[in-house]
Amino acid sequence: MDKALVGSAQGLHGTLIVPGDKSISHRSIMFGALAEGTTVIDHFLFSADCRRTLAAFQALGVPITSEGDQVMITGVGFKGLKAPAAPLDLGNSGTSTRLLMGLFSKQPFPIEFFGDASLSKRPMQRVIGPLSKMGAQITATDNDFLPLTIAANQNLNAVEMTISVASAQVKSALIFAALQADGPSKLTESAQTRDHTERMLQQFGGKIQKTGLTLTINPQDHFVAQHFRVPGDMSSAAFFALAATLVPNSELRLAQVGLNKTRTGFLDVLSRMGADLRVENVVSQTDEASGDLIITSSHLHATTVNGAEIANVIDEIPLIALAATQATGITEISDAAELRVKETDRIETVATELRKLGAKIETKADGMIVHGPTPLHAVTNAYVDSHGDHRIGLMLAVAALLSDSQLTLTDAAAIDVSYPNFFADLKTVLD
Ligand code: S3P
Repeated sequence: MDKALVGSAQGLHGTLIVPGDKSISHRSIMFGALAEGTTVIDHFLFSADCRRTLAAFQALGVPITSEGDQVMITGVGFKGLKAPAAPLDLGNSGTSTRLLMGLFSKQPFPIEFFGDASLSKRPMQRVIGPLSKMGAQITATDNDFLPLTIAANQNLNAVEMTISVASAQVKSALIFAALQADGPSKLTESAQTRDHTERMLQQFGGKIQKTGLTLTINPQDHFVAQHFRVPGDMSSAAFFALAATLVPNSELRLAQVGLNKTRTGFLDVLSRMGADLRVENVVSQTDEASGDLIITSSHLHATTVNGAEIANVIDEIPLIALAATQATGITEISDAAELRVKETDRIETVATELRKLGAKIETKADGMIVHGPTPLHAVTNAYVDSHGDHRIGLMLAVAALLSDSQLTLTDAAAIDVSYPNFFADLKTVLD
């Protein structure tokens, strides 16, 4: 599907409630399925990825209904899941795949996973390796890829291990397995990654201990149903925050956005670059804080992004690269080789697409160097391509707002993975 993008934007104004957080929406289904009673989730993100998690649990016999953006799940516990009639199609969703590998690693029946072309290229050994050490038996294509089969399994051993990749998906898979192990497990992260699983585990009445980067998890299978609202997705808000920063004469309020500290690195980076960002009306519902972001247009200057900050901004790096094309000076992003194994190789897709608009970007094995500022416009033709990657498509839609020529986004449907209503939302805030 091709989509004509808005060019030469004059300003963004008003208030927008961005969709629910993708990471939290996935996890809310998972914990809801494990809890006793009926969990009610408001502001659930009905995007392609989160629907995959929802459908997976329905296929395993968990009653789930919805009305508008509210979802009701009647939990069955680890022991109440039923053998699915067919292999589970996880589409484009890395989060569904990796977290469910851990959650389903001790079931009395085998479960098969498959996904789309992009998901089938993404590495799974990072989860299979540690889960195998715990006693799970997972057979994957070339040992690393979907399709894969989780064998029926009766025992998981408790482990003490350091997780070699800084990944919340890997950590979360291991937490779900550790809950079903035969003793306490200790998991140590190499850098702090998003901690939604840890928070939601406690919200549903479970226990987890945290000392520095080490988590101690005891086996537990008693969780209590909850009713809560999913905060707005910081990673979706980020597209509008940058748009309002870069398009002159803008002032935009993004209401009730999740402000979990493991997710707000993008705001730190943007502020460091000179953006005018304010946070108001902070509320802490259950364990996840949220608040309003108010963004006013401003001029940006270059920055450096590397080290432990990378895990916090991993999904926003395409946007940081776009910000850098408009900033004065040279921005260097390093220690971000993980970008190469996202929905696309985001170092290459960001550089390829932004160069089409005149950006000066050098790629490195673990990041990018961006020389700014450069005006953005169609250099050879008016097409930009999402490469089937939602965050690349969304980033290009923001880039187009700055372009004086009209652009067309090919494979625009990719954005349904995390933000199906993006273009409708954009319309409501454009002058
Ligand atoms: C996610 C973790 C991150 C992130 C992804 C969502 C999660 O992936 O990029 O969009 O919900 O746990 P990694 O764990 O691979 O870094």
